[in-house]
Order: sequence, then C-alpha cells, then structure tokens
Amino acid sequence: MNTSVDIAGVVMKNPVTVASGTFGSGMEFTDFVDLSCLGAVTTKGVANVPWAGNPTPRIAETPSGMMNAIGLQNPGVDTFLKRDLPFLTKFDTRIIVNVCGRSAEDYVDVVERLADSPADLLEINVSCPNVKEGGIAFGQNPDALYDITKKVKNAAKQPIIMKLSPNVTDITEMARAAEAGGADALSLINTITGMKIDIYKRRFAVANKTGGVSGPAIRPIAVRMVYQVAKAVKLPIIGMGGIATAEDAIEFIMAGATAVSVGTANFRNPAVTAEIVKGIEDFMTAQGIEDISEIRGCVE
Ligand SMILES: Cc1cc2nc3c(=O)[nH]c(=O)nc-3n(C[C@H](O)[C@H](O)[C@H](O)COP(=O)(O)O)c2cc1C
Repeated sequence: MNTSVDIAGVVMKNPVTVASGTFGSGMEFTDFVDLSCLGAVTTKGVANVPWAGNPTPRIAETPSGMMNAIGLQNPGVDTFLKRDLPFLTKFDTRIIVNVCGRSAEDYVDVVERLADSPADLLEINVSCPNVKEGGIAFGQNPDALYDITKKVKNAAKQPIIMKLSPNVTDITEMARAAEAGGADALSLINTITGMKIDIYKRRFAVANKTGGVSGPAIRPIAVRMVYQVAKAVKLPIIGMGGIATAEDAIEFIMAGATAVSVGTANFRNPAVTAEIVKGIEDFMTAQGIEDISEIRGCVE
C-alpha cells in the first residue's frame, strides 16, 4: 500500500499533518502521538518579532466547533529557530513552518531567516491584517494576495504553500491569484469569521468581538472550497476544516486534496492524528486501494 504524497517535491509518508496553531510545534503532544507517524508537523504561525496576541478571553465554544481570537501570539522567529526547529528535526517527519506578518516586509524577513533552516515547506498565513493597507487581510483581496505571493516566493528557498482565507466571495479567484503569484501549493481553509454573545454578561464571548470559527461546524464549507479550488488550479492542495476522523480526511482527498490537516480535533483528543493515519490505511485495505492517489479528486 502506498500512502505517500508529494507536495511541491516534498514527499510526505502519509497525507496527514496538523493545522497550524492547534499543535504548537508538537512538544505538548509527544505523550500522545509519535510525531514520526505523521506525514508532517505544521507549526504555529511565526512572525519576525514576538507577538503578544489579543486580550483575553480569546476562545469560546460554538455548536460543533470553537471560535478563537488568539491574535497569532508567537515567540518570534529567533526563539523558534533556537527552540522549536531543533526539537522537530529529531523526528522522521516533514516540517511545515507557518509564517505570519503585518506587512510584506515582515513575511519576507521571516522567510529569509528560515532559508537555511531544516524547514521543508513554508505555509504563508495570509489571514493576517495588512497594516499598511488599512487592516484588510492579505488573503481577502486578489491583488494583495498576488503581490504577497510574488514577494514571498522571490525570497523563499523552500516551496511555499499559500494558506487561503475562506472569508471571501469567490475562493477560486483567490486560488488563481496565488497560483499566478508563483505559489507552489495551497492550503485551505483557515477559520471563518464569527461572533458569539454571552447574553447574561451582555458582552462578546471573546474580547476581540469576532473570532475564527473552526471544527466540524465548518467542514462542509471547507470540502466545497477544496473541491472548487482543485478544479480551478493545478497546484497540490492541503485540505482542512473540521477533520476529526479518517472518514473526514478521505472526504477531503476525494474532493481533490493531496494532504490534510487536523486542527481543532486535537483539543478533544490529542491522539487523534495517529488514529486518522491508521484509519486511512484501514479504509484503503477494506476498499482495495493500492495507492492513495487513486481516490484523489475521484468525485466528478
Ligand atoms: C486556536 C487556533 C489557533 C490557530 N492558529 C493559526 C495560525 O497560527 N496560523 C494559521 O495559519 N492558522 C491558524 N489556525 C487555523 C487552523 O490552522 C485551521 O486552518 C482551522 O482551524 C480549520 O481547521 P480545523 O477546523 O481542523 O481546526 C488556528 C486555529 C485555532 C483553532
């Protein structure tokens, strides 16, 4: 049986990775999962300098999911290079580093400092507010997305995965903009902007007022977007949004994803990623599938 997949020339032993921000750099999960059984570990977003994140409360429960407004708290790329990457190289897994920034220069700075690091792939989170252009996220305007993709691609040594925001009218327009800018792969979806009000406190449930909704509640939207993007561009796709079981992961692969990321489900069951890897193998055996690529995008 062959479960390996190729993302822009980087071979993952299986299609399963974790969604950025839900798994740290894996350190907290080693009691539950052998990181070497994952196709890749995707790290929490890292910026050129430390970010404090948003005021608390920053998370809330929603029906079949959660809402977060962490605000991309991170220790900055210097600490990340010294502490997180050396830890991850101890495992037989690919390393995908998620990158965030408030300006094109921020992104380029991080990407340049990761150039000679052991990172295999860089995932560029374009859901960050573009401070110079009025705070609209880079990923919500096709021209801004094209520009940032081009600048990051020019600066990067590793292949770049542009992580698309679902908070747009037409996801295929954004996918095409990233492809035109030189992206090597795409990942989707990031969280969907939501709001929750605590009616007894008469206050927003998270201090930021709005937050990103994730978990099973968003899965059908994510599957639809992966399907649309797979039809619109030629790039490999890492699909995510509410994956909690092997069956969910296979749904994304059948929609056209090459690999999948597991996010919010890690908070409910920290061993879920290993279970999904095994569940995909079991499904392939039961269905007589020799190579995972046989089912990729198999729905028409
Ligand atoms: C607590 C939390 C933190 C997140 N942090 C990041 C981040 O740093 N960078 C990023 O690109 N996405 C981040 N995300 C989005 C996830 O990577 C993922 O795209 C989204 O949650 C959908 O997948 P899921 O439903 O499986 O969680 C975060 C999500 C959560 C819930």
